[in-house]
Amino acid sequence: MTEQGTAAYAGIEGLPPLVGSALGRAREAGFAYCCLPGQGELLRLLAGGIGPGNIGETGTGYGVGLAWLAGGAHPGARLTGVEREPVRAAAAREVFQGTDISVRTGDWRLLRASGPFDLLVLDGGGQGKGEEPPLDPADWMNPGGVLVIDDFTPLTSWPPSHAGRPDTARLYWLEHPRLCATQIPVARDSATILATYTG
Ligand SMILES: C[S@@+](CC[C@H](N)C(=O)[O-])C[C@H]1O[C@@H](n2cnc3c(N)ncnc32)[C@H](O)[C@@H]1O
Repeated sequence: MTEQGTAAYAGIEGLPPLVGSALGRAREAGFAYCCLPGQGELLRLLAGGIGPGNIGETGTGYGVGLAWLAGGAHPGARLTGVEREPVRAAAAREVFQGTDISVRTGDWRLLRASGPFDLLVLDGGGQGKGEEPPLDPADWMNPGGVLVIDDFTPLTSWPPSHAGRPDTARLYWLEHPRLCATQIPVARDSATILATYTG
C-alpha cells in the first residue's frame, strides 16, 4: 500500500468536491493509504470512458478512489464499493449520502453480487498480492471490461520480481490469457496495471 497516498494531496487545490470530502475524513482519521492523486486522475478518466456501465471497487477505505471514479462517471453509471472496516465504510457512506453510490461493509468477495463489471478497481482484495489467490476475471467482468490494480513499483526488467522472488501477482495480470494488460506509471515510484477482459 502507498503510505504516502494521503500525504501526496498536500497543497493540491481544486479537487472534485466528493474527493475533497472523502480526503477530509481520511485525514481526520489519520488514514495514510488513500490512492495517489495521479491514480485518482486515472480512475476519473477510466470511469468516463465506460459510459453508463457498472463500476466497482474493493477496499474503498474512506472513499477517495470511489469519489474520483464518481467524478468522471456517466450519470447513468452504477458505482459500488466494499470496505471491511466498518468505521471506514460508514465514513465513506456519509461522503456519498444523497447519491446513488453504495458502499457495502464486509469482505471484498461481497462485491461480486453487484457484478459483472465494466470497470473494477482492486484496491483491497482480489489483487493476489498477499496470501489470497487473485480473482478470476471470468467471474467478475463483462467482456471488454477493465480491471485496475495499482500500487506496483514501476517495471524496470523482465521477468518482474518482488523482494527477490518472481512477482507472481504482477505476472498473473500481465500474462493472463483472457486479459490484454499493460502497466503505466501514475507517479515516479508507483505503477498501475490496466487489464481488459476479452471474454
Ligand atoms: C489502499 S486502502 C484503500 C484506499 C481507497 N481505495 C482510496 O482510494 O482511498 C485499502 C483498503 O482495503 C481494505 N481492505 C483490506 N482487505 C480487505 C478485504 N479483504 N475486504 C474488503 N476490504 C479490505 C482496508 O481496510 C483498506 O481500507
